[in-house]
Order: sequence, then structure tokens, then C-alpha cells
Amino acid sequence: MRLKFIISLHKTLLIMIVCLPLVVFSNTSFGQNRKIDTLYLELDKKYRIPEQWSALPLDLEDPYKRVKNGPPLVNVVHKANVEWLSRWIANPKKTVPNAKMPNLGLDFEEIKAVIVYLSSLAEKDVPNITWDAFLLKKEDELSEDEYEKMDKVFNNGKGVWGRARCTICHPIKGSGGNVGVGPDLGEITTKINRNWLYDWLNNTKSHFPDTMMAQYRFTDTDIRGIVEFVMRDTQFIPEEKEEDEGGVAPAEPEVKVLSEKEFSGLRQDSALIETGRDIVERARCFVCHDIKGISELMPVVDKRRDGLVGFEKLLYDIRCLTCHRIQDKGGTYAPNLTFTGSKIKMGWEREFLQAPDIIRPLSQQMPKFNLTEEDSRVATEFIEKSLLIKEALPDFYKEGPPSAEVIASGEKLFYDKGCNTCHAEGTKGGGVVGPNLATVGDRLQSSYILYHLKNPQQVNPQGVEPNFGLSDDELKQMVGFLVDHVMKKEGK
Ligand code: HEC
Ligand code: HEC
Ligand code: HEC
Ligand code: HEC
Repeated sequence: MRLKFIISLHKTLLIMIVCLPLVVFSNTSFGQNRKIDTLYLELDKKYRIPEQWSALPLDLEDPYKRVKNGPPLVNVVHKANVEWLSRWIANPKKTVPNAKMPNLGLDFEEIKAVIVYLSSLAEKDVPNITWDAFLLKKEDELSEDEYEKMDKVFNNGKGVWGRARCTICHPIKGSGGNVGVGPDLGEITTKINRNWLYDWLNNTKSHFPDTMMAQYRFTDTDIRGIVEFVMRDTQFIPEEKEEDEGGVAPAEPEVKVLSEKEFSGLRQDSALIETGRDIVERARCFVCHDIKGISELMPVVDKRRDGLVGFEKLLYDIRCLTCHRIQDKGGTYAPNLTFTGSKIKMGWEREFLQAPDIIRPLSQQMPKFNLTEEDSRVATEFIEKSLLIKEALPDFYKEGPPSAEVIASGEKLFYDKGCNTCHAEGTKGGGVVGPNLATVGDRLQSSYILYHLKNPQQVNPQGVEPNFGLSDDELKQMVGFLVDHVMKKEGK
């Protein structure tokens, strides 16, 4: 009996789902509440269940699944100076606070041999960039005029750095880096040089094909600015050790470091190179690093990326999946993009991609990668065609826009429930924890707004928006209120 009832209920549900686009929010008098419940179930099934997502026309590469987690070491002597290298190999975590490489317990003699061996592998040096001579001077050696010119480059770089939101991935002296992937840059000036930094920002993948860092579309001026900023600003220089107060803490034992001078005397020593090679083999450095001549001990599958085009190339260049997730690949820092095409309105999308604006003022923000018009066209087209729910979502307002009463009740509800503690609504003020809701209808499709409001944690489990347990009528009113002005603007 019960089972039969459930089956017939199931059938009713099915029929309702099929008819939904026609009946939702229409003014028919029966089962108002029940209809929206069903609608929610339908939306939930569509947004959440993988079987409902469009099949992708490409194989996504997950940047988190790279074969070797450490960078290739072939040209590392052109990147990092030998003093830094010797401190790093002796104790990675003491050199960079968020280092992942383990301490391999090598002594100073072994470390010397390893560095000499690594330097013997070096192939091409980084290109020699021409810098205005004064930019290579220390600050106190600059004339007033030179200082002014340097300061202009520096400040331009500071701006580019800010818009690029480098600190979304990179912590600095332990703070920031919420994506959780980049090395701490708090002492980066003790490691790298200008030429290397220029070349890295210009073409990250030529140094490290598997890097998780985005390849920004920087201009030469942008890069020179960032280089000036990074090589000079105090946040990238080690903090001065405080004077020992009263000698309570025992002085740290001196770490032996390899000087440039000692190194240049050793680097041609072929016996030492051999010793270094043996150590690298024994220490199994090749498990995590590509090391020419040794990594063959553990063959890797070479990824073919020369032929990448369209969205696949964009994904690889920008590394969207370091922050975003699509289906079962990528990170969780930024909004899941799997069904963006059934969530976001495409006109908004295209503008956003080219010039990302702040949506959620206090939580996450998308960096400005300076995507070209072509880039954003490619992305929007892909999102529209492929990052979708297979079946169409119901069109709430097919039968006409929400009524004035619905909108007014929605507005009242908005303030009664205290949505404005976290959200502003146009210029009327309110909180800045969540996005300004005056434009939410420009950005989000109405079915997605309803889905979000029914259970804010469904899509974003870390989201701070409480579940208000809105009734079906209330949901309808709230969505009506939030989309009202947009519908007017669009002439509906
Ligand atoms: C999407 C995350 C991400 C963003 C955004 C990002 N980086 Fe990186 N960056 C990385 C990762 C990850 C590495 C290390 C290489 C790897 O593991 O792929 C790295 C490496 C570096 C390095 C070399 C550091 C070292 O010790 O080897 C520098 C310098 C650097 N990034 C500068 C920048 C600058 C400047 C910006 C902003 C213009 C920036 N990064 C933006 C992820 C990012
Ligand atoms: C368990 C994995 C692992 C092993 C084994 C390992 N490394 Fe690393 N190494 C890393 C990772 C990961 C990084 C990137 C920086 C970090 O730790 O976040 C790195 C970075 C480095 C760097 C700096 C490279 C750069 O571009 O900035 C050098 C040099 C290096 N490793 C040398 C070695 C040597 C030499 C050995 C063997 C004696 C070795 N590593 C063994 C994981 C490893
Ligand atoms: C460094 C991390 C990072 C990378 C890389 C990145 N994004 Fe984003 N993206 C974000 C963050 C954070 C947000 C949320 C912005 C906000 O709420 O203000 C976002 C928002 C978005 C949105 C709006 C989504 C929504 O539901 O609100 C889209 C679409 C998007 N990104 C597409 C892309 C594409 C396409 C790429 C690659 C070309 C990309 N992103 C690369 C961090 C990133
Ligand atoms: C405690 C703070 C808080 C309160 C109260 C709150 N929200 Fe939010 N809301 C947020 C945050 C943060 C986000 C962005 C993060 C996310 O998408 O979960 C958000 C996102 C949204 C979005 C956009 C979802 C998206 O994916 O872009 C809508 C629509 C929304 N809220 C409506 C409301 C309404 C209507 C109320 C009142 C019933 C409300 N919020 C109450 C914090 C809040």
C-alpha cells in the first residue's frame, strides 16, 4: 500500500517536473507550496548530480596531479644563487616557511657536491634583459633625479602586483596565500635575480611546464614594474634579526653557506661533480624533480601540449583549475565552474573575464590576468556550450514578471531577515560580507538564485550565509525582489 503510494507520488512528481516550466510561479491556485518544493528538488538534482552535467569535449588536466611536485633542476643555478641553494638543501623549512621539500639530512660537504653537480647540468642561461643603469644601483646610490624615475617604475609595479593579486597564492612572511600553492615570497630577494624574475613572469611554462602559476598577459612595462617592486620593497627582504635582549635565548648555531667565491673555485671539479651525482641518485631527488640524466631512472609520461588550442590552451596558460574546479578536477578555492553556463548570465560573464570586478568584497577575488578580448570570447563560448546542465532549467518568468505584491513582500523580507547585515542593496547601504544584491540579477540566472537561497551551503559548504529556512512563498518573493529591476531593464 505505502509502496504503491510512493510510486504514484513519484509519477506525480515526474509529471510535475516535466510541466514545471509552464506552471511555476503562474497564478494557478492549487498546491502553491508543493510546486516550489518540487522545483527545488529538480534544481538540486540538476545542479548537484554529475549525471546531469554536460559531457566535456576535452580531457581536463588537473594541475594538482602533476607527476613531479618539485620544479625541474636543470637550470636552477641561473634562478637561485648558490648561497641560497646551500641554505635550502640544508634545511628547506628554515629557508622558506611553507617549503614542502623534506630535509634530506645532507652535510655541508655533500651539499657543496650536489650544487656543483647541478650547475654542471645547466643548459641555457636566462636571456639578458637590458635595464637602465640606475635601476641596478642601490637606493642610497641613486641621485634625486634617478630616484624619482625609479620610484615611478616601482609604483607602477606596485599597482600591477596588487591587481594581479599575487598574494592569493603566495604568502609573504607567513600571511596570505589562501589558495595554498605558491612558495612564501617574504625573502625571495635572497634567492633570485632580476633577469630570472623577468623571464619567469614573461613565460613561466618555459621554466616549469607543469607549474600551477598563472601565465598573466603582462606587457613589458608591467613586468619591469613588478620586478622593480619585488626586488626593492622591504616585504621581500628578510626582517632584520632583533638584537639579542639579555642573551636569554641561545644563539642559533651558524649555518655554513657556500659562497659565490668558493663555488667558482669548485664548479669545474669533475671528481666533485661525480660525487654530487652519486649523492643526488642516492637521495632520490629525482622522485620529486626532473633531473637530466637521472630522471630516466623513473620514467615520466611526457605531456604533449604543443598543439593546445582554444579553451584547453587558456586553461593551461592561466591555470584556471589551480583555483577553480570543473567536474572532478582542480582546486576548491574559487567558485566551482562546472555549471557556470547554467548559473551565470553570459553578457556579465564576458565582461567579468576581461576585467574581473569584485563580487564578494571580503572573501575571494579573481586576479586580473589581463585576458584579451579573444581569451574572454573563447572562455565565454566554452562556458556557454559545455559548462552546463544538460536539460534546460525552468524559466520562472515565462508567464510574466513577478507581481508588485510579490516584489514588495520580497523587499520587506530582505530587511526583516537581516540580509542587509551582510549584503548591500544598491546604494541603500548594508554589509559588505557578501556581494551587493542590487546586481545579483544581472549576474545570476533566477533558478540559481532560488537554489542558492534554499540552501546556501549546498554549493559552497564553507559559505557563511546562514540557511534561513525560507518557505516556498518567501523564496518566490525574495527571488522576485532580487530580479525585479533587471527584468525592468531588460524590458520584460
Ligand atoms: C595561481 C596561483 C599563483 C598566482 C596567482 C601567482 N603565483 Fe607565483 N607561483 C605559483 C606557484 C605554484 C609557484 C611555484 C612553482 C610551482 O609549483 O608551480 C610560483 C612561483 C613564483 C615565483 C618563484 C618563487 C620561487 O621561490 O621559486 C615567483 C617569483 C612568483 N611566483 C611570483 C609571482 C608574482 C609576481 C605573481 C603575481 C603577478 C604570482 N607569482 C602569482 C603560483 C601562483
Ligand atoms: C619529496 C620530494 C622532494 C625530494 C625527494 C627532493 N625535493 Fe627538492 N623540492 C621539492 C619541492 C616540492 C620543491 C619546491 C619548493 C617547495 O618545497 O615548496 C623543491 C625545491 C627544490 C629546489 C629549489 C628549486 C627552485 O626552482 O626554486 C632545489 C634546488 C631542490 N629542491 C633540490 C633538491 C635536491 C638536490 C634533492 C635531493 C638531494 C631534492 N631536492 C629532493 C621536493 C623534493
Ligand atoms: C588565482 C585563482 C584564480 C584563477 C587562476 C582563476 N580564477 Fe576565476 N575566480 C577566482 C575567484 C577567487 C573568483 C571569485 C570572485 C569573487 O567572488 O569576487 C573567481 C570567479 C570566477 C568566475 C565567476 C564565477 C561565479 O560563480 O561567481 C568565473 C566565470 C571565473 N572565475 C572564470 C575563470 C576562468 C575561465 C579562469 C581561467 C582563464 C579563471 N577563472 C582563473 C579565482 C581564480
Ligand atoms: C552572514 C552573512 C550573510 C547573510 C546574513 C546573508 N548572506 Fe547572502 N551571501 C553571503 C556571502 C559571504 C555570499 C558569497 C559567498 C557564497 O556564494 O556563499 C553570499 C551570497 C549570496 C548570493 C549570491 C550567491 C552566488 O553564488 O553568487 C545571494 C543571491 C544571496 N547571498 C542572497 C542573500 C539573501 C536574500 C539573504 C537574506 C535572506 C542573505 N543572502 C543573507 C553572506 C550572507
